[in-house]
Amino acid sequence: MSVFILGVESSCDDTSASVIENTTILSNVIASQKVHAEFGGVVPELASRAHQQNIIPVIDTALKRAKIHKNQLSAIAYTNGPGLLGSLLVGSSFAKAMAYSLNVPLIEVDHLQAHVLANFLQKKDEKKEIPSFPFLCLTVSGGHTLILKVNDYFDMEVLGRTIDDAGGEAFDKAAKILGLPYPGGPVIDKLAKDGDPKKFSFAIAHIPGLDYSFSGLKTSFLYFVRDNLKTNPNFIADNLPDLAASIQYAIIRSLTNKVVKAIELTDCHDIVIAGGVSANSGLRSAMHQIADQYHRKLFVPTIDLTTDNAAMIAVYGYFKYLKNEFSTNDSTPYSTVRNKTSF
Ligand code: KG4
Ligand code: ZN
Repeated sequence: MSVFILGVESSCDDTSASVIENTTILSNVIASQKVHAEFGGVVPELASRAHQQNIIPVIDTALKRAKIHKNQLSAIAYTNGPGLLGSLLVGSSFAKAMAYSLNVPLIEVDHLQAHVLANFLQKKDEKKEIPSFPFLCLTVSGGHTLILKVNDYFDMEVLGRTIDDAGGEAFDKAAKILGLPYPGGPVIDKLAKDGDPKKFSFAIAHIPGLDYSFSGLKTSFLYFVRDNLKTNPNFIADNLPDLAASIQYAIIRSLTNKVVKAIELTDCHDIVIAGGVSANSGLRSAMHQIADQYHRKLFVPTIDLTTDNAAMIAVYGYFKYLKNEFSTNDSTPYSTVRNKTSF
């Protein structure tokens, strides 16, 4: 039997809607908000307003591209958190009203868990292998950095997390120091391809266990660039690809060191990466090397499914639908991770 889920994502600065049939994507529409670029980061109030402008056309387009009438929908899944509250309210209010008017179940979804389950999505006419439980998942986004042991769709143990900045934030802040636009991760990734990752060396934090810290790296990068600008005002322009490659190398080393530890501490065969930073080409190739070295199988989502998108919300909704796990209209959005040790 086909289950058609409409997913709605509005946790940060992307308004997205997707229709899936079971785990197959029929449409995945993403309206990225350009309005934040000039501010060097997401401005929450502007994000909420842009979501309000985008939400109806984005949902309408997602239904049209999927060639699905709204009356065919089995349920509506929406991001309930974590994220910016004003942004979450736009998507959640819309999803609640639409589910009520269509008289279909409403399903709330946790954004971070959805990033992990993006690895279970299939594209049309494509049969992709999916990871087997339990697997390890490195989830790195603009707001979070986690190593998870994923026992089941609904059972994710937090083995490690960042104690300060997220991996994506480290990319974005380094980019800002270099005068590059927001979001900085993809820009650094592109520049790094022409640079020497060993030209400049940045010490990474040594935090016990599987936790992360990126704030010291950001500060040492800031001081390093600032000190060099004193002697050479063109230091950034003269060394841009090498600076990008070197800071990217430090962030990747920091991320992958803990993955290696997690592999050694657990018995998981499959490894998964998720979240916006998993789009990074350097991280992808480093993870492939680790997987080869430790004889593990690596699962990497396609680039469009790494960053924020509603298909991942819809697929999480699908698995909840199968378990009849529905939400009520009084469920309220949340801004931060609700449980620090598991989901
Ligand atoms: O998952 P995501 O789209 O949104 C959040 O939930 O935060 O992640 C956004 C983050 C940003 O920090 C962005 O700079 C980073 O992912 N990012 C990348 C790349 N593409 C996106 N970082 C490094 N390399 C990339 N190619
Ligand atoms: Zn995200």
